[in-house]
Amino acid sequence: MEINTARFLVSNQEVTKCPAPQKPEYAFIGRSNVGKSSLINMLCRSKYLAKTSSTPGKTQLINHFVINEKWYLVDLPGYGYVRSSKAKRDEFSVMITDYVCKRENLMCLFVLIDSRHEPQKIDLEFMEMLANNEVPFAIVFTKADKLGKEKIKTQVENYKTRLLEDWEELPSIFITSAEKREGRDEILQFIDEVGNEWKVEN
Ligand code: GTP
Ligand code: MG
Repeated sequence: MEINTARFLVSNQEVTKCPAPQKPEYAFIGRSNVGKSSLINMLCRSKYLAKTSSTPGKTQLINHFVINEKWYLVDLPGYGYVRSSKAKRDEFSVMITDYVCKRENLMCLFVLIDSRHEPQKIDLEFMEMLANNEVPFAIVFTKADKLGKEKIKTQVENYKTRLLEDWEELPSIFITSAEKREGRDEILQFIDEVGNEWKVEN
């Protein structure tokens, strides 16, 4: 599958105001600054479609993009940015939980993890919440260019081992670099495959 057109549609603070769930949807979540917006731009081969920043907390709304006029990509605010106020963190947390649990056309939520970090409690708890609510998700390791090939392998293996302490099965896992455009084909192929379920159901 190739992305031929990508356009910004709308930003929202509330799930109920998001576009009608008539197209299959894929969203990107993870800690603030993990690289959600950069990954969306990399997938769409666009520099400025989703707004990125080296300062955490850039994306503050639920942003819908229409791809090939057929499906939605969604850029979400990051969770757990320690330097924002508790009120702001709580607001994002409610928005995100509401979004992931209520969006009926959400085919897959891509949970982004910075490949340089050891497993963090906040991410593990977030994925636990997804599993409990039966939200379909995949893991995307970001910023792979910042590590050597061998190191990234060890990091991912360690992460899997940690997940298998709690779970019997692993979700799909992708290794990406927005900088080096790595992991693009794999994610698009996956979206294509998951999208077939939409065609069958609708
Ligand atoms: P918030 O919207 O603030 O939650 O952040 P975000 O997750 O959308 O992150 P964003 O895409 O804005 O990227 C944060 C910073 O990481 C920016 O300075 C990016 O240039 C950098 N970055 C993102 N992806 C990569 C990558 O694959 N490699 C490298 N080296 N830097 C990256
Ligand atoms: Mg962002």
